[in-house]
Amino acid sequence: MALEVRPLGEMAGAEIIGLDFSAPLDDETVATVNRAFLDHHVVCIRDQQIDLDRYLAVASCFGAPHAQKIPKFAHPDTDMVSILSRELNRETDDPNSKPLARGTFWHTDHSYHREPSKATLLHAIQIPSSGGDTRFLNMHAVYEAMPDDLKKRVDPLRGVHRLTARRQFTGVRRRTDDEVDGPRAVHPLIRTHDETGRKSLYMNPNRMDGIEGWSDADSDALLEELQEHAFQTRFEYRHRWRPDDVLIWDNRCLMHAAMDDYTETRRMHRILLTGREPY
Ligand code: SIN
Repeated sequence: MALEVRPLGEMAGAEIIGLDFSAPLDDETVATVNRAFLDHHVVCIRDQQIDLDRYLAVASCFGAPHAQKIPKFAHPDTDMVSILSRELNRETDDPNSKPLARGTFWHTDHSYHREPSKATLLHAIQIPSSGGDTRFLNMHAVYEAMPDDLKKRVDPLRGVHRLTARRQFTGVRRRTDDEVDGPRAVHPLIRTHDETGRKSLYMNPNRMDGIEGWSDADSDALLEELQEHAFQTRFEYRHRWRPDDVLIWDNRCLMHAAMDDYTETRRMHRILLTGREPY
């Protein structure tokens, strides 16, 4: 059956119809998915009831999966897959405390590494009957809509990214010892996509110390201005999950955020694909 690529949103998102991940993928199929991924930044393949081995085999067609570093989130059968479920993310040892959902503030995965993840795959194992959407910001569109003088100002600058960043607005506050001084990397604020050549604003609000060589106050002023510009619904695609969806998105040109507005279980299996140093 020929594959059909059906756009889901104006800013990002396309569904690929006719794809079955339970069987090996031929080169033409991989090329079609890759093309849709580059054109639409988020691709969704519905109704995929696949086990971990198939999930990893599918992911490997699009890049090299890398290991999940935080043991409590790793899948018990393989650390190449992590489990996203707020039950695994309690802030305190009190079983009555409200567990934290992960990734609820705008971010891009692993920007604090020299080679941040190129793409993320999520497989929806269990979805609440309402809520728990994932939102995406198209950072190409964000960049393109920046006023020319702002583009010129930002063009030569580099952002300092760190796991335990100074500018951390939300997230996990308890850290293991080796996370406290965790990874740090410096990346251009205007990033060129290594496959399409398109430019985007590359920032990760919760994981940035500031701008290289700038004072905290000056960094804060510019980063706040950029955030205010970026956090606009006109740049957004919002994905409403169905059980067994597999989503693949491009971390090089998107930020994403999970909605924390549900009470039932939400469980996702995540694979990250290795990326290159941004330029
Ligand atoms: C993530 O931030 O990587 C996961 C987003 C989600 O759970 O929707």
